[in-house]
Amino acid sequence: MKREFLRTGDGSITIHLPEWNEQYHSRHGAIAEAVHVFIKNGLYEKWASEEKEISILEMGFGTGLNCYLSLLEAERRQSRIEYTGIEAYPVEGSEISQLNYPQLLDDSGELFEKIHRLPWEVPTEITANFQLLKKQLLFERIDEVASFNLIYFDAFGPRVQPDLWTEKIFQSMFDALKPNGILVTYSAKGDVRRVMQKVGFRVERLPGPPGKREMLRAVKGDQGN
Ligand SMILES: C[S@@+](CC[C@H](N)C(=O)[O-])C[C@H]1O[C@@H](n2cnc3c(N)ncnc32)[C@H](O)[C@@H]1O
Repeated sequence: MKREFLRTGDGSITIHLPEWNEQYHSRHGAIAEAVHVFIKNGLYEKWASEEKEISILEMGFGTGLNCYLSLLEAERRQSRIEYTGIEAYPVEGSEISQLNYPQLLDDSGELFEKIHRLPWEVPTEITANFQLLKKQLLFERIDEVASFNLIYFDAFGPRVQPDLWTEKIFQSMFDALKPNGILVTYSAKGDVRRVMQKVGFRVERLPGPPGKREMLRAVKGDQGN
């Protein structure tokens, strides 16, 4: 499938798939969206509760932007994160070098490079605070049980990949979370919210990132139900 680079509303670059008219991030701002949806409404929310060490599952590792932002936060806060990124179709190195995230985040880029340099399938300490495991796997194959505190659900949208927003996938997400775990996603579609509720999540609608009215946060109960 043809892939192009697109400068989004906040100046950060994303990958655009013309055939699907879909991109890896919001056109209104790739960094702005990632910070709002995953960091502020996901990671900060988890840090606000009692948990000191957080294990994160990312569905759709893609450019590694969410991982990179989480790593920078872990360094700032000196808090430990164990991060698992799932991706069936890894972004190529030549594409990664076109992304301007370190520059816009005022960072040397060393950590962003390290994220992409490390091999797949091997848990690696990127810093003393951050362990990363990149797994090349289809979402449909996830069968983790009570392993994560937080899920970043960042698949392509339900318009282009409806099979990834189904009861079966959200049941596997629910199962993968520990009690009190949360899942955040940029989508606010009614169908998505209902399917999350069906598998047992309590779902909150929150103000969305630039250009979007709402996003969703799904919470698993403290009894694991
Ligand atoms: C919206 S993009 C990811 C954005 C990513 N979080 C980022 O910050 O770049 C969705 C990602 O899901 C991956 N993907 C699509 N279908 C998949 C599947 N069935 N299993 C695993 N990964 C899939 C795509 O290759 C793409 O990298």
